[in-house]
Parts: sequence; structure tokens; C-alpha cells
Amino acid sequence: MTISNPVFESKLTLYVLVCWILAAFGGLMFGYDIGISGGVSGMDDFLIKFFPRVYERKSHAKENNYCKYDDQMLQLFTSSLYLAALIASFGASKACSYFGRKPTIFMASILFIIGAVLSALAEHMWILILGRIFFGIAVGFGNETVPLFLTEVAPVQHRGAVNILFQLFVTIGILIAGLVNFATSKIHPNGWRFSLGLAGVPALILGLGSLIITETPASLLERGKVEEARAALKKIRGVEGVEPEFQEMLAGCEKARQVKRPFKKLMKKESMPPLIIAISMQVFQQFTGINAIMFYAPVLFQTMGFKADGSLMSTIITGLVNVGSTFVSIYAVDKVGRRKLLLQACCQMLISQLAIGIILSTHLSATGSLNKKLAAAVVVLVCTYVMSFAWSWGPLGWLIPSETFPMETRTGGFAFAVSANMMFTFLIAQAFLSMLCTMQASIFFFFSAWIVTMGVFVIFLLPETKGVPIDSMVDRVWKQHPVWKRFFGDTQEL
Ligand code: BGC
Repeated sequence: MTISNPVFESKLTLYVLVCWILAAFGGLMFGYDIGISGGVSGMDDFLIKFFPRVYERKSHAKENNYCKYDDQMLQLFTSSLYLAALIASFGASKACSYFGRKPTIFMASILFIIGAVLSALAEHMWILILGRIFFGIAVGFGNETVPLFLTEVAPVQHRGAVNILFQLFVTIGILIAGLVNFATSKIHPNGWRFSLGLAGVPALILGLGSLIITETPASLLERGKVEEARAALKKIRGVEGVEPEFQEMLAGCEKARQVKRPFKKLMKKESMPPLIIAISMQVFQQFTGINAIMFYAPVLFQTMGFKADGSLMSTIITGLVNVGSTFVSIYAVDKVGRRKLLLQACCQMLISQLAIGIILSTHLSATGSLNKKLAAAVVVLVCTYVMSFAWSWGPLGWLIPSETFPMETRTGGFAFAVSANMMFTFLIAQAFLSMLCTMQASIFFFFSAWIVTMGVFVIFLLPETKGVPIDSMVDRVWKQHPVWKRFFGDTQEL
């Protein structure tokens, strides 16, 4: 069966570019948070105020390198956000359908600003945690809505690149957080308050931006506003001749409307292939171990014997590598394809993790520190690892789940992917410092084993989706795949 890829008329207008960039600030909000917590958890003023026991242990010269930050409450500080986001993403998918993408993005920014204010002013642990919960709900709302928004306003031929703008802004957010921490760590005793409070800035930009951006035509159609949808499509395409595209959207919307209960439909056998792939992409993304680096890089580098400044510096270097390498993905994803990028990255990540594990297990004793040359080698290896993540599992963990579902199960399916991401981000954030303490350098071998599993998964189970029109995924991808085709019978119940 051959289905050609339609090319609809569109112009890249300044307005649509502004819409993409403003929406992508949702990614920046998420990224800033990922990057800020690790640096703050390494700041003495912050530890003295909220985690005096950890501070005591850290300043103890003879303390075990791998265990000095192991504290359940300290980990809860980082991870509570993701638990809140996990629950919020399902609420966000409902809000997206009932109110539209624009108001949901606005809600995300308000919640984030409340989180920033609470965190910056926190005098007690419970306020700090409350702030994290607000941040978390905001991230759940933002991460469900922004990638969908970008996908829905992107012209078909640029969908991949526009979707990866979200990840690009995540990486920029992480980098900015690294720079902010570097500066605020020199402000005593309230530097950490600036770090947490400045999270409100991208949220404010997103909030103001959400007043300017258009509602997506798909969301307007979903809520029966046909004429407004047509006008919105003309506005974002910058041309008058949008009728062929609009008619196709109407047809897709009609088909989706026949499915009365999308979540029930998602549980049917024929929805399993995209659902399993979407969830696995996010789970595996987290089992690369990336957030062990992103959240805890300053702590990790201090564990390796870097001084506080040196470790924040190294975080900035990895942050720059992360941003730069995401551009490679934007360029390559529609040329070399998803599978090749993922497999190449598995090899590069595996080599880097194994080498880090070997260096640390042979040269970093529980109480010593690494010599300069080896410490530099570890930073280089962390960079080669981050680089490969940034052009593969990072962006594709978001892109593939957004393009594998048929329209009727797309938003519901994507909510599962977002919550899987949050769930495993939470688990890794919560467990990492304890795992580091018990497994020591072997933690890198643990992640290496996962990377091998992921490689096998890509080889046998992940179909190539490059260049496949999003609405013919079922016929052209799932029904052709040697494993997944068994999930499709002759009749498809709604
Ligand atoms: C992941 C985050 C990760 C970030 C690193 C994102 O795609 O979802 O968990 O910290 O990439 O750049």
C-alpha cells in the first residue's frame, strides 16, 4: 500500500516563528528546573539551613566520597517535583481538551511562578517541598501541552525540527541553570534563593507569550469552533489557500470524534504497539542515566574530588555540549532517521559509561580524590556521553511518542508517555544518591547494562518512522512490522 506524503501550502512568517519560540519557553522552564536542583543541593548555605546532617557529613574529611550526599530528604527535594508532574500530566491532558492548549500553557506558567515565589522565600522545609509541588504540577501541564502545541502548529514538512525546539529549550534551560548556580553560589547566605526564584523568569515569559500565541486549529476543531479553526490555520500558515490541509484536518477530527472514549481505545490490543513504544522510549530515556548527570553533576563532580567551583564549571561545560549536540539532531533526524541515531548513541554512551566506571572503580577510593589528569578524562567522557544522548534519546524520547499514535489516541497516549517520563525521572532522582552510596562506581556499569538492553530494543522492536506521514503510521509502520503486525486483526473495534 502506498500513501504519498501531502505537501500543503505554507509560509514561514514572523508570527509563527514567534509562536514556536514563545511556546518552547515551556521547555526552558522544565530544563531550568532540571539543572537548578543539583547545584542548589551542593550549596553549603542551603544545606546548613535545610539539611544540616548532610552538611555535617559532607564537611567530615574522612567521610566516604560516595555517601556524603545520601539523604532521603535531600533526594525528595529534587524528586518531589516529578511525582507531582506525573499525576498532573493526566489532568493536563483533560485541560488541553476542554479548555484548549493556550489556557493550559497559561495555567502552567502561573503555577510555575507560584512555585518560584514559594521556593525563593522558603523558611521551612514544608514550604520548600510545597514550592516543588507547584513546580511539578506546572511541569506536568507544560510538558503535556507544549510538545503537542508545537506539533499541531508546525507545517508537515518541518514537524520533526519544530518538535525538537522543545528539547532544544530544555537543554538551554539546563545550561542557564548551571550559569545561574555558578554566579549565585558566590552570594552568601541567600544565593540559593536567587537560583530557585529566577525560575519565575522563563515562566513569566511563557505566561505573557501564551497571551500572544494562537490557539491551535486542531484544538479549536476539537471544541467545535470550525470557523475560528480555519482562520487560525490561515494565520499560522501565512497563506489564504489552506483549504486542502483544513479539509484533511476536518476528516481526521471526524474520525477521532467517532471514538467516544480515547482512554478505553488505548487499552485495546491494536493500540498496544504505539503505546508500548511510547512508554518504552521514555523509560529507556531515563535509564540512560542522563539525570544522574543532569541533577547531580555538581554533586557528582564534587564526589570525584573537584572543588565546588570546578564542579559547577564542569556542569556548564556539559550543559554547552548538551545544547550544541541538540542541533545535530535537528539537522539529522529527518535525514539519517531515528533508528540510526539511537543505535549510534547506544554505542557511544556505552563506551563512555564503561570507561567512567573503570576509572572510578580503579582510581577513586572511598576517601581519596582523582588526580587532575583522570578528573579531566572523566569530564571528557561525561561530555561524549551527554553529546550522544543529546542527539538521540533526549529529543527522540519526546518526538517518537508524539508521532506514533493515530489521531484518536494521540493526546491520551502522549499523556502516558509524559507520565512515564516523570515516573522514571522521579525514581532515578530519588534513588540515585543512595545507589551511588551502595553501588559506588558500579552504578555506571548498572546504566551500561540498560544501554545494551535499549540497543537490542531498537534493533528488534523500534520501527523507523522517518518520513512516514503521521496519519498513515498504522498501515505503513505497525501493520508491516514483523513483531507488531500480530496485534492487528481484520476488524478494528472502536
Ligand atoms: C529529558 C530530561 C533530561 C534532559 C537532558 C530531556 O529530554 O526528558 O529528563 O534531563 O533531556 O537534556
